[in-house]
Amino acid sequence: MSDFQSWVQGIQTRTESTLGLLLPDSATTPERLHTAMRYAVLGGGKRVRSLLAHAAGEMCGSLAHRVDLAAASVELIHAYSLVHDDLPSMDDDDLRRGKPSCHRQFDEATALLVGDALQTLAFEVLSQPDFCDDARRQLEMIHLLAQASGSRGMAGGQAIDLASVGLNLSPAELEYMHIRKTGALIRAAALLGAQCAANLDQARLQAIDHFAKRIGLAFQVVDDILDLEANTATLGKTAGKDAEQNKPTYVTILGQERAHTLAAELHAEAVAALAPFGDEARRLIQLADFITRRDY
Ligand code: IPE
Ligand code: IPE
Ligand code: MG
Ligand code: MG
Ligand code: MG
Repeated sequence: MSDFQSWVQGIQTRTESTLGLLLPDSATTPERLHTAMRYAVLGGGKRVRSLLAHAAGEMCGSLAHRVDLAAASVELIHAYSLVHDDLPSMDDDDLRRGKPSCHRQFDEATALLVGDALQTLAFEVLSQPDFCDDARRQLEMIHLLAQASGSRGMAGGQAIDLASVGLNLSPAELEYMHIRKTGALIRAAALLGAQCAANLDQARLQAIDHFAKRIGLAFQVVDDILDLEANTATLGKTAGKDAEQNKPTYVTILGQERAHTLAAELHAEAVAALAPFGDEARRLIQLADFITRRDY
């Protein structure tokens, strides 16, 4: 196993255990809701947002146990977004992370509540009084995650996604949507990891911001490509959904080949933003490679 692979596994393991501790026990009333919350969050997912938070945190000198909480808050919002994304009123997906999607395993009302409760749990985690010594910084972090999740971030991107079915968007319109529905939370993950540092260097923060914007967009370009090129077993979610539902994606707007080229260009721009930091940025650069070359 490479040094990077063992680092990834280490972060994935600590992310799983942090989330496991933060989520209410399944035996706590209301048991069905808590069981469904744990089902939606635990035991799956690449944990890319947590990996980005930790990599950015390492570059900025953040304490890892603090980054654990920041990373968990983003993974909770992300898991909620997937539960709602799969609902019949949205993408109507039966499979997520290799298992029946939350509303298939439980029911739609439970899936709605799982999303609601995961979202508020994320903010409960980030607003814990002992999370950060600097109250102003902590408020900035809460503000950042709220903006990234709301109608000018992920939820807004999802609204545009649903309104775009069957439309022939321009590349600029598609970028606007993707930056919000996926890019915003990826960016928040990296910035929150950096903001866990006691002495935050603004040059580093700016570079991470630039990096995360480009790699966040690349992430959704690759997601669009994988929907066409990968199979359901590898993806752990139903392949070919975008075409089936007539969604405009980078593959439909640019074509397969140009979508690949765009992902490579975004990757190069992301990596270039970190060039001044050399080896200190190596985890983020390795993650950029992982995000653009992944097969699931
Ligand atoms: C899938 O995200 C949904 C998008 C935002 C594109 P991921 O590919 O990160 O999903 P998990 O967390 O690994 O399941
Ligand atoms: C969803 O994008 C992005 C979210 C905010 C959840 P997709 O609808 O393409 O995600 P998948 O392909 O179902 O994971
Ligand atoms: Mg969707
Ligand atoms: Mg979907
Ligand atoms: Mg997709």
